[in-house]
Amino acid sequence: MSQAQPTRIIIQIDNHSFDVTEYATKHPGGAHVLRRYHNRDATEAFNHVRGHHDAYVQDLMEKMEIKDHPPCDSPIGRH
Ligand code: HEM
Repeated sequence: MSQAQPTRIIIQIDNHSFDVTEYATKHPGGAHVLRRYHNRDATEAFNHVRGHHDAYVQDLMEKMEIKDHPPCDSPIGRH
């Protein structure tokens, strides 16, 4: 894999995959929490944060969703 690109941060929530690489520095909860969930299912942690269920968060997430990404926990999705 080329390292010319910034290291991607891909997380999975409710069986959808999101590329949060660029968003990470803007995330109110910090970049480190997103990095910790790289290639993992973050559904439970995500659902514990009240603000995550606001409509503007859903809009943000729609833009970050990777539509054809295999689930992180499938053999093909494991990196
Ligand atoms: C696509 C994924 C995510 C998006 C778009 C997102 C977005 C946001 C936004 C907008 C807030 C502020 C909410 C508010 O109080 O109004 C927030 C807060 C927070 N997020 Fe996320 N988040 C994502 C994933 C995660 C994950 C995976 C974690 C892991 C635990 C996390 C942990 C937190 C925490 C702890 C806060 C609270 C920060 C505070 O109020 O001090 N987030 N997030």
